[in-house]
Amino acid sequence: MKITVIGTGYVGLVTGACLSEMGNHVVCLDVDARKIEVLNSGGIPIHEPGLQEIVHRNAAAGRLEFTTDVARAVGHGTLQFIAVGTPPDEDGSADLQYVTAAARNIGRLMTDHKVIVDKSTVPVGTADKVRAAVADELAKRGVNLAFSVASNPEFLKEGAAVEDFMRPDRIIIGTDDERATLLLRALYAPFVRNHDRLLVMDIKSAEFSKYAANAMLATRISFMNELSRLAEAVGADIEQVRVGIGSDPRIGTHFLYAGAGYGGSCFPKDVKALARSAADAGLPSKMMAAVEAVNDEQKLVLVDKIVAQYGDDLRGKTFALWGLAFKPNTDDMREAPSRVVVAELIRRGAVVRAYDPVAAAEAERVLRLDLGDEALAQQLRFVSSAPSALAGADALVIVTEWKEFRTPDFEAMSSTLTDRRIFDGRNLYDPALVRGFGLDYRSIGRA
Ligand SMILES: NC(=O)c1ccc[n+]([C@@H]2O[C@H](COP(=O)([O-])OP(=O)(O)OC[C@H]3O[C@@H](n4cnc5c(N)ncnc54)[C@H](O)[C@@H]3O)[C@@H](O)[C@H]2O)c1
Repeated sequence: MKITVIGTGYVGLVTGACLSEMGNHVVCLDVDARKIEVLNSGGIPIHEPGLQEIVHRNAAAGRLEFTTDVARAVGHGTLQFIAVGTPPDEDGSADLQYVTAAARNIGRLMTDHKVIVDKSTVPVGTADKVRAAVADELAKRGVNLAFSVASNPEFLKEGAAVEDFMRPDRIIIGTDDERATLLLRALYAPFVRNHDRLLVMDIKSAEFSKYAANAMLATRISFMNELSRLAEAVGADIEQVRVGIGSDPRIGTHFLYAGAGYGGSCFPKDVKALARSAADAGLPSKMMAAVEAVNDEQKLVLVDKIVAQYGDDLRGKTFALWGLAFKPNTDDMREAPSRVVVAELIRRGAVVRAYDPVAAAEAERVLRLDLGDEALAQQLRFVSSAPSALAGADALVIVTEWKEFRTPDFEAMSSTLTDRRIFDGRNLYDPALVRGFGLDYRSIGRA
């Protein structure tokens, strides 16, 4: 099939690459000329395991192209996927300006029937807005061309995006149009060969399902984070509680980890957007407000523990910090808890020696914007390995649970860290084991 993907970010690039892997001819469009240049010269603008191989293979075969040429992109695909960003607007609602711009471009330039598929996460009713934008552009041109609009929310996880796209738990298609249903069923058939995981539903329910899924996952995290504080207060161990409840199949084991708060490009904005939709419908969401409030506090939980130990003035203190990305296996720094932790430590006068296996460059870029050049120059160093972060540090702070942090050399840690102290925001270690090395170990929800 001929496919256009509009927006070549985490979702668009993975979608385009994986669809081309199945033999489709895909053109990926972006307004960011630098991104397209990187892709056209063989680079990959994001870190995503397995993505580079698929992009290179299919680009070399001529099935995957990257362009900033809107007319070429609109002319190419029978299916036009919209995968642009939907960041939060000032009132928390999803900002649909990029989605609308993409839809208008299609209406402005299409010359034959198009199936427009919204893959961006968008509030209920957006398909109608896309339809109206395209119709408006067609009317301006005085042409009468048929088109379909469908919703196909994306459920991939950053860090495992290729794997998720190639082997999805489910594919949701929201449509009220026979032609769109047939085309999308055919397109996704190779991804659901062993087990039909394709769910066809009405458009509004498809749009809603994406927000409901992310809101549920964020709720589980905030629930466990709130319980972790209580566990500490009453002397229980949240890790044992997690196992205790996760073995109930009605609860399940996933997304029950207490930690340093959720971040990323999706949960924070989607929780906000759902809350906004609820308020607009006259049904304010008490749950979403609580999920967000608990998370905002949780991002400070490591800093609270550090301040409880050292006091508010951290001048003269140096902290090693492991993990900057919002989660492992990505370089995405959007809403990463590390940004809050670094900012709070620096604000109190500390020096931070930060290490992340892949996100250092992106972290430096965003932290420069967050904190300014001077703070970065004076108080923040990026180092190239986990052990080298420890050199000259008083204590270690762990923010992201990269695999390489799981079995460190505790002996070396104990002899290197001046205060022999670890603040672990991800509960990576057995407290008894760590304490056996003479380290003072503070983690989340474990008394
Ligand atoms: N990142 C994820 O893990 C994930 C998972 C599921 C769903 N989503 C949703 O998918 C959407 C995209 O997310 P993302 O993380 O890929 O965003 P992103 O910011 O990485 O990429 C969006 C891209 O769209 C481009 N763009 C903006 N306007 C454009 C236009 N008019 N024409 C062409 N390109 C344009 C931007 O330059 C950017 O490269 C969002 O709605 C998000 O909520 C994201």
